Amino acid sequence: MLIQTAPRIRSSEITPRSVYLNRRRFLSGSLGLGALAAAAPLAEAKFTNLKESPFNTKESETPYKVVTTYNNYYEFGTSKDQPAKYANTLQTRPWAVQVEGEVAKPQTFDIDAILKLAPLEERIYRHRCVEGWSIVVPWVGYSLSEILRRVEPTSKAKFVAFQSFYNSKQMPLGRYAGIQLPYVEGLRLDEAMNPLTLLCVGLYGDILPNQNGAPVRLVIPWKYGFKSIKSIVKIKLVDKQPPTTWNLDNAHEYGFYSNVNPQVDHPRWSQATERRLGDFFKRPTLMFNGYGDQVASMYAGMDLRKYF
Ligand code: MTE
Repeated sequence: MLIQTAPRIRSSEITPRSVYLNRRRFLSGSLGLGALAAAAPLAEAKFTNLKESPFNTKESETPYKVVTTYNNYYEFGTSKDQPAKYANTLQTRPWAVQVEGEVAKPQTFDIDAILKLAPLEERIYRHRCVEGWSIVVPWVGYSLSEILRRVEPTSKAKFVAFQSFYNSKQMPLGRYAGIQLPYVEGLRLDEAMNPLTLLCVGLYGDILPNQNGAPVRLVIPWKYGFKSIKSIVKIKLVDKQPPTTWNLDNAHEYGFYSNVNPQVDHPRWSQATERRLGDFFKRPTLMFNGYGDQVASMYAGMDLRKYF
């Protein structure tokens, strides 16, 4: 992964939470459609009546502008500012996600069906990139388990493989990405079923901007950011550990599990601290990014240096 130093954000670029909250109040209030709003997105692509999640961090949210202009999306360029500039060519409608493999009921879900499958929640998660920066984002979505249980995994299903959309016409910079595309990722079945694993369709109460992985992506808050695959078109339940993009690129530096772990350094740099985008000082990185209570038991007895 290319490394760039996390930028300092000018105070003029920061939208205070009060302004953002007022904006959201204005959006829901001015539309006056409370009764209609249940889990349904509105025509203007704003979500209302989002369920609050028990997993929300109380830490301050990273400004919307930062979250949507400092991105990793190699299909649209390897610099942090390129996805926001070039991802407008991504066509997110029509869109479908195929769910197949070791399941009793394989199904293709249209994006509109995905938006209505389960009540949408706001999940304010810490998100830690392997490169040493972190953000706090109010994502919108629901647990990935909602969709997985509907296809009824068989007893042979042990892992879940994910695949991103790839189209060289819509993603002309993809050929310079330096990684194999389409982008692929994987989770063990219990990780995929963990309630923290979010099937994400939005952020800050809005649909996902293309550069953040529209129209549907994962967010796995206890793992390094690269596990959170964007613009998903295929989910396959499988019996063996599936290949993953960064592990294919450099197995020495990127393992399958990629749990946030301040005690296991990346071969080229320490993972002990991180810089929250916008902060001056670094802060200590927490084991499992602070989500140990929810996830540590899944790794009991495993040597996390070996399974990094
Ligand atoms: N998914 C795809 N398809 N392509 C990518 O390049 N980058 C990953 C992940 N998902 C990536 C991807 C990395 S390295 C990170 S840190 C996160 O997306 C960044 O998500 P964000 O831009 O919304 O912060």
